[in-house]
Amino acid sequence: MIICIGAGPGDIGYLPQRSAGLIRDADVIAGFDAVVNVVRPLIPARAEVVLMGYKDQVAQLEHVARLHHAGKRCVVVFMGDIHFSGFQYLERVERACGHPVETMPGLSSAQVLASRARVCFDETTFITFHRRGDLTPFKRHLVHVLEDQRNAIVIPCPWDAARSFMPCHIAAYLLENGISPAQPTEVWENLTRGEAEWHGTLAECADKTFSDMSIMLIRTLQPMASQIEPAEAA
Ligand SMILES: C[S@@+](CC[C@H](N)C(=O)[O-])C[C@H]1O[C@@H](n2cnc3c(N)ncnc32)[C@H](O)[C@@H]1O
Repeated sequence: MIICIGAGPGDIGYLPQRSAGLIRDADVIAGFDAVVNVVRPLIPARAEVVLMGYKDQVAQLEHVARLHHAGKRCVVVFMGDIHFSGFQYLERVERACGHPVETMPGLSSAQVLASRARVCFDETTFITFHRRGDLTPFKRHLVHVLEDQRNAIVIPCPWDAARSFMPCHIAAYLLENGISPAQPTEVWENLTRGEAEWHGTLAECADKTFSDMSIMLIRTLQPMASQIEPAEAA
């Protein structure tokens, strides 16, 4: 058995009970150090822990796949939810195993942000730049989302200088592409663990620096009017 689970945005209290049960019953727990640390209190002493980083993830996942094929119950833990900025890692797990694997969703940093900042999914688009490959289509999509008067929840890319696309770069790119400097912008850091929040405009964001563990909300300039029934007169 092998299952990939979303470990939530940082605090173990945000982990679904079913996922906690899977970890308690596992023979092998694998994942990036910071994510495994989130679920560490649930890992049984008898379980093998397979830690990895960007550089050795392929080799370590091959080791996990061998344990899975040998009959061990394996759990691979993902940051937040698997379905937002987690699919490339899922692809690596499945490539190592040689078949599709079961997944269990987790609570995403995007969901916690939506809750803290009180935005509705229906009127919001989710975009991540924290992925390998060509970011151009995602950048273009973000411009279209804002032109369409929707909110955008954006995961920046914190990698090396050549690829880094952090809130300041995102803001500068949007301004160059005709998005209003007045667009209300928020950056939230370390959600569920010592949170920090910044509120300003897109123009102000272009001069700000944030940590790797940050997520951005760019609000529409024209929020939708309520579409529920009119309130009854008193
Ligand atoms: C590879 S993405 C994974 C996102 C994850 N799958 C999710 O659903 O939240 C990692 C990035 O997500 C953002 N992120 C994850 N957890 C966060 C948190 N607790 N607070 C703020 N940003 C977070 C950061 O930008 C981080 O570098």
